[in-house]
This record gives sequence, structure tokens and C-alpha cells, in this order.
Amino acid sequence: MTKGKRYFKYFFTVLIVILSLNFTDSGYKKQSSNFASGFMSGVVVSANEIASEVGVDIMKRGGNAVDAIVGTAFALAVVYPQAGNIGGGGFMVAKLSDGREVSVDFRETAPSTAYRDMYLDSNGNVIPDLSTDGHLASGVPGSVDGLLHILEKYGTMKRADVMSYAVNLAENGFSINAELASALNSYGGEFGNYAGSKEIFGRKFSEGDLLVQKDLANTLRLISEKGRDGFYAGETADRIVVEMKRGGGIISNEDLANYRCVDRNPIKGKYKGYDVITMGSPSSGGMCLIYLLNILDSYDLKFLGFGSSRYINLLAEAMKVVYADRSEYMGDPDFYKVPLKDLISKEYAAERMRNFEFGKTRREITPGKINRESSQTTHISAADSKGNLVSLTTTLNDIFGSRVVVQGAGFLLNNEMDDFSVKPGEPNIFGLIGNEANAIAPGKRMLSSMTPVVMMKDGKPFLVIGSPGGGKIITSVLQSIINIIDFGMPLNEAIDAPRIHHQWLPDYIQAERNSLSEGVIDELKTIGYEIKTVNSFGRVEGIIFDTDGVMTGYSDRRGSGKAVSF
Ligand code: GLY
Repeated sequence: MTKGKRYFKYFFTVLIVILSLNFTDSGYKKQSSNFASGFMSGVVVSANEIASEVGVDIMKRGGNAVDAIVGTAFALAVVYPQAGNIGGGGFMVAKLSDGREVSVDFRETAPSTAYRDMYLDSNGNVIPDLSTDGHLASGVPGSVDGLLHILEKYGTMKRADVMSYAVNLAENGFSINAELASALNSYGGEFGNYAGSKEIFGRKFSEGDLLVQKDLANTLRLISEKGRDGFYAGETADRIVVEMKRGGGIISNEDLANYRCVDRNPIKGKYKGYDVITMGSPSSGGMCLIYLLNILDSYDLKFLGFGSSRYINLLAEAMKVVYADRSEYMGDPDFYKVPLKDLISKEYAAERMRNFEFGKTRREITPGKINRESSQTTHISAADSKGNLVSLTTTLNDIFGSRVVVQGAGFLLNNEMDDFSVKPGEPNIFGLIGNEANAIAPGKRMLSSMTPVVMMKDGKPFLVIGSPGGGKIITSVLQSIINIIDFGMPLNEAIDAPRIHHQWLPDYIQAERNSLSEGVIDELKTIGYEIKTVNSFGRVEGIIFDTDGVMTGYSDRRGSGKAVSF
């Protein structure tokens, strides 16, 4: 399937979900079923109700928000195979009850025999689909090492207890929801291309069907018993390598044995009196978010008016410079000197907007001059009353990743290699381009847009938030934050409000259906913008705290997730 077709199919699937959400002419209909609010001991918000329930049950048994989020993440690998995973990777950001601010990078890595031009033919042209479909598209998975590390370092419960839910759900099955049935049916043809995928997903599904995954249960049990060796060594590792050989993939036993997640310092910013704690490289998400907030910090957005052409004009021009710099300066910090200080400084942000004028669009934007001192994804937000705030985003990249299930091990592999810049200027499945900073190299982590965020106000918890959505993760999280801070919206309205996106190239505003009025569209066209309507736009999962510490959780209307509390 070509990238264009893959993109179209993804949007089509999302469109079906969106059309089932009862839009009104004036915009969107707020839903209340994905809410959890009140004086609570804990909240978990994820893309699936069963998985959120797992996290809350863990907290009821005395676990903290870290235990809960790890249990939820493993459960998502069973009940939300579109993006929940053990064959992918992700990032976690947390503010812990003892005051520590921490982040863990469990992004996939390029296998040791990967090389820069591995997806190009002898004429230097990109070979269609090679970085997205099938075995060669996978990076070395990081999720298992990352989740176990997070649990061991910051959790309180035993691995076996936290993982027992996922093992049981895989072993005994669960009733699938309409969203999963529809997604599985949409990709049935592709699952048919791979023996392991066909065995599990190669049939017609209906809402309410029991999905039993015995092989996955066995793999999860091995991880539960042996820790990382249950995945990166022995039976599971051997099965991954056999699967690789079956389809021309290159992940080796050594690649698996050598994989390690990395503790990294979170990066921090300040926006209108709020502290932002988020993920640094190799995700672009946190840097782009802080850069955008730094630009918007000096504007009175409420005065401009939500959804007005002046507001959209400002957002689009801010997004353009940020995504231009993303393409040039962001990559794995262990391989490329990312100019972090500049990228998240208020001065640099101001400099990049110096030639911005309301009523104009800047066609001449290129990446800024910095001295070189240098899909599908899913998010979980969890918080407990002890003050642990945990934000975790994890991904297979595209929906169902490479679509390859490791035969006998029962889990899907990622197609994260497409997040590298396979050729300078060549767009990935999200239309994002890159350059040297994000070129493929053995052991290197591909650039991400994942943006797990924790925010504080005057030293108190304020917000835990994040989203899936490829390149739109950053702008989905950004608009949810400014809707709360600048426009005073309650969490559900802030998350549900229609969004726009501009990523510099392609040079047009991507506007969610019903996000702009006809009048505003006309004004933006007069300024010189091209506007395209898009149907896929993140699925934010958030928890907000009021000044008394009362928590409210909310799961984006765009998905079928759930906020659960106790
Ligand atoms: N694969 C989506 C991301 O990491 O941005």
C-alpha cells in the first residue's frame, strides 16, 4: 500500500469514527460519558475503558499513579492493538510526590545493520512502502524495557501484580468495542499478508466479539516472570528474529539484547505563569510545544478571539517556523547536537516572529539560523492523591504499526523507521520532512512528535496531558493548553474544541471539520492561506486540578477512551 493510500485509509477509518460522534451544525456536541470528576484518590485516562479500569484497580489495591500507568499501558497492548503495544516505544514524563521531575525515553532504535539510504533504490529514489509496511519498517522495540524500568524505579508494586491484568485479558479474552472491530476489519486485507497477523486478526470482527490472544498471553507471562529477559532474550527474542528473517527484516538477537531505555532530564518552559514539564529529544514534541508557547506568551489570545482569522493567522505563522526548525534541528541527541537552548528560549521565539504581521502569511520561511552548538499512537494520563502526576505516550507509529504480528508471540511490531528522514526533504506518513539531524544510523532513535506533559501552577499540580496524532500531536496538545489557560474553557471543552494545524510543509492550514466559520475561511484565503479540511486530529487524554486539588479527567470526543476514577 503506498503512503498516500495508507494515509487515505487511516483518515477514512478515523472519519467513520468521527461521523458516529453526532456533530451539530455549530460545531461539535459535547459528551459527558468520558468524564471523571470530584474529590478522588486517583484518575486514569486512556484510549480504552478496560485499560483505564485496570489502572484504577491497581490504585485501589494501593498502587501509585506509576503502577497504574504501567498496568494500563500493558493492558492497552491487549485491548487496543491499534496503538497500545509491547512491540513499539514511547516516552514518559512525571512529577513525583517527592518533588522529582523525571522522564524516560523508551523510543525504538534503528537496528545495528540499518544504514542511511536503506530505503532508497540505486538511483537514490525512495522505494515505496519499504519504511512503512512489513518487517524492514520496524525499529528495535523499547516499550517493555521502558515500562519495566519505570515500574521498578518509580512504582511500588510487584511486576507480576501489575501485569496480571494484561495477562488475563489476553488469556481469557475481552469483548471488543465498535472502534476496534471497525479498525480490524479495515486492515484485514493487510493482516492477510503476514502469517502471524492472519492467525489472530485475519477474520471479520463485530462489536462484542471475544478476542482471545493466547500467544500474547504467553509472551506477557514470560515478561511478568523474567522481566526484560522475557522479551529481549530467550523464546520471545528468538521468535522476533525468526519473524524478521521470514520477511526480510534486520532486527537481530544482539539488537534486542542491547536495547536500553534512557533516563533523560525533562525539559521545562513557562507559559503565562504556568510551569511546563515535558519530553526532550529524541522527541520533538516537548521542544516544539515550549517553542510555540514561547511565541504565544506575549499575545493576548482572548483579545484576538477564539477561531478568529487573526488568531488562526498567528497560530499558523507560529506553527510554520516551529515545524521548519523541527525539520532541520531536531533528532536523537546521542547522535546529533540539538540546539535545545535556542529552540526553547523566549528570545529565539521572538526573533523568529519578528517579521510577522497580522493579515499576512510568510511564504519565505526556512529553518532559522542557529549556531550549531551544536498515527497511530496512544496517550495515558494518570494522577493520584499523593501528588504523583504521570504522562505517558506510546506508539507503533501507524495504526497497527507494520501490521506484522510476531508469529507465536502474538504482538504487533512497529513501523517506526518511517519516523526517520529516509531521504532529505522526503515526507514521512505524516507529511513531515527532515534532514541530517534525523538521518538513519545504527542504534539511533528516530525523531518523534510525542508530547507527554505535566503542568504546575505555583508549585501545585495543574494539568497532565498528551495525545496521539503524528505531527499533530504537538498542535493538539498546544491548543488544548491554550484553550484552558487563555480562553478559560473547562477541560472537556478545551479538548473537544475543533483544532487547526500547520506544519510549514506542505504549505497549507489543516483545519478540522467545523473548526473555522465560512467568514474566517474567506478572510484567511484573502490573506493568502490555502486551507484543507482534515478528519484526523489527535485524541487528547487529560487530567486537570482545580486550586483545591480536585481532579477532573477527560478523554477526547474524537476517540472512544475513558476517564476512570475512584
Ligand atoms: N510515531 C509518531 C511519533 O513518534 O511522533
